[in-house]
Amino acid sequence: MSDFITNKKRTHYCGTVCAADAGKEVILMGWAHRRRDHGGVIFVDLRDREGLVQIVFNPEISPDVHHEAHKIRSEFVLAVKGKVRKRPEGMENPHLKSGEIEVMVSELEIFNEARTPPFLLDGEADISENIRLKYRYLDLRRPELQKNLILRSYVAAEARHFLHDAGFIEVETPFLTKSTPEGARDYLVPSRINHGMFYALPQSPQLFKQLLMISGFDRYYQIVRCFRDEDLRADRQPEFTQIDIEMSFIAEDDIISIMEGLMAHIFKTCLGKTLNTPFPRLAYHDAIACYGRDNPDVRFGLKLQELTDILKDAEFKLFQEVISTGGLVKAIKIDAEHGKQISRKDLDGLKDFVGTYGAKGLAWARLQPEGWASPIFKFLKPAEVQQINEKMEAKDGDLILFLADTPKVVHDALGNLRNHLAKKLNLIEADQLAFVWVTEFPLMEYSDTEKRFMSTHHPFTSPVIEDMPLLKTDLGKIRARAYDLVLNGSEIGGGSIRIHRPDVQAMIFDALGLSQEEVRRKFGFFIDALEYGAPPHGGIAFGLDRLIMIMAGAESIRDVIAFPKTQKATCLLSEAPSTVEIGQLMELSLKIVS
Ligand code: AMO
Ligand code: AMP
Repeated sequence: MSDFITNKKRTHYCGTVCAADAGKEVILMGWAHRRRDHGGVIFVDLRDREGLVQIVFNPEISPDVHHEAHKIRSEFVLAVKGKVRKRPEGMENPHLKSGEIEVMVSELEIFNEARTPPFLLDGEADISENIRLKYRYLDLRRPELQKNLILRSYVAAEARHFLHDAGFIEVETPFLTKSTPEGARDYLVPSRINHGMFYALPQSPQLFKQLLMISGFDRYYQIVRCFRDEDLRADRQPEFTQIDIEMSFIAEDDIISIMEGLMAHIFKTCLGKTLNTPFPRLAYHDAIACYGRDNPDVRFGLKLQELTDILKDAEFKLFQEVISTGGLVKAIKIDAEHGKQISRKDLDGLKDFVGTYGAKGLAWARLQPEGWASPIFKFLKPAEVQQINEKMEAKDGDLILFLADTPKVVHDALGNLRNHLAKKLNLIEADQLAFVWVTEFPLMEYSDTEKRFMSTHHPFTSPVIEDMPLLKTDLGKIRARAYDLVLNGSEIGGGSIRIHRPDVQAMIFDALGLSQEEVRRKFGFFIDALEYGAPPHGGIAFGLDRLIMIMAGAESIRDVIAFPKTQKATCLLSEAPSTVEIGQLMELSLKIVS
């Protein structure tokens, strides 16, 4: 048995030994991060969760230990005992917390050797992500990922503190359940005991948290895994975590202000940042009109301006055609300082960029001392140009980009172009945090594929009461009592006030074209529960992974999840999903047909 484990207990984390410890004897345990042999003296950077410390093997101090130290290679696991001393003058490392000291080793134990890692753990991780994911346990040794996961743990702990203090009760809800209403594809789990039947993994605990309100818990929360079989992106994983919340006897403003308190608490305790509350609010309609999307990044300007009215009689065939068929013309202005960074060639690139969102072109105009330079202004009357000048508040050197198309294409293309330009032109200050609530979402949207109206959020979202008469006339115009929280252009949370009356719920199902039979089959248990005294209630869920990604300044949510899946929903480490034994299938009475 190791003497170090039984008799000599670790005294410090490597990264915490500092100048104040000079003269002390310490016992450290960790991984050999780097080894350097300097003419007899061996230096090793020993690493643990808290950071690095330089340990020194000097043949004159301890020849046996120095001899043993020759065996040390990258990622060997060591225990050392030694004396902390100030580094000789000029040898300090200002980049390390422990940079002023080193540990002169008098005892060494090599706990374990290590194969040469497939990639270097220090320096920039310029390695393919697939290799990192396959050897995730090594990747996770990198300080950057350790920092992210430690932050994640702090945020979860602080969320719990805050919510507990605010009277919220954490309740667990089932993973093996029935299909839930978030609208993505379900992950299914076959039942062995009930052949031919399946559980669905929850896309969220939506119905269960509403049932807990009916049960009288009043304030519920859960930090909970959700499962959605959808197309993956940098900010989407098939399993992800929500801070899920529900409250009774409240309205929008109650939820919004408590959630602002939660965000302020998390950012203060975990990052030391003070947030300005209340956060601004933006109606969905205005978000789309000014930013082209419902998750606007409000850290920079480049707002969309509508020119449809000004150009409706323009003798430019292209605009005329678009406008006369219900389309829009919108523009973005880039000021002179940034506009001059965009060359003619760049403009072609921007045209290709909007092309990926279905736009057929991108017109431009640049205000030069001698007047507008533009391929399209020759088609416009002086009065039209004058009105554009005024509307866009155009100044010398400004560059304006125009797009004419259906409202959907204009908003999609310009909304994305806005974000693209902000990156390209460096318009976003580091460390900026821009929260905005988006409210007044439409309750339903028409789906061209389904040929019917579908819930924008889920069918339990309450309509704005004054809009109820529109149920008979104009479904697309009904506003929902729903709100999303957007941070730096990313939707980090969303929720709503729910329907608590069975008659209203029935009207909504009806408007969604769901038959009574379908409703009963899918949500029967929930409809029954509404009839036993449901309190007015509402809630929200935050995407914890997305929140941490932004807090950590990470590019992808995979960097804040210990064991994430690839874009193809596979785990390269464990090789899931995988085939199973034929016996397992037989037990489930399942057969693979192709
Ligand atoms: P919603 O579907 O908007 O609402 O989800 C809430 C938040 O969860 C995050 N999120 C995701 N994060 C990572 N990967 C995903 N695949 C993913 N999908 C969603 C987002 C989102 O804002 N039950 C409702 C909440 C409610 O009404 O109370 C719900 O789940 O940040
Ligand atoms: P064309 O006549 O196709 O050469 O187009 C003239 C200019 O209008 C070019 O700069 C095109 O990029 C631009 N353009 C084409 N289609 C659109 C559109 N839908 N919206 C805005 N500009 C467009």
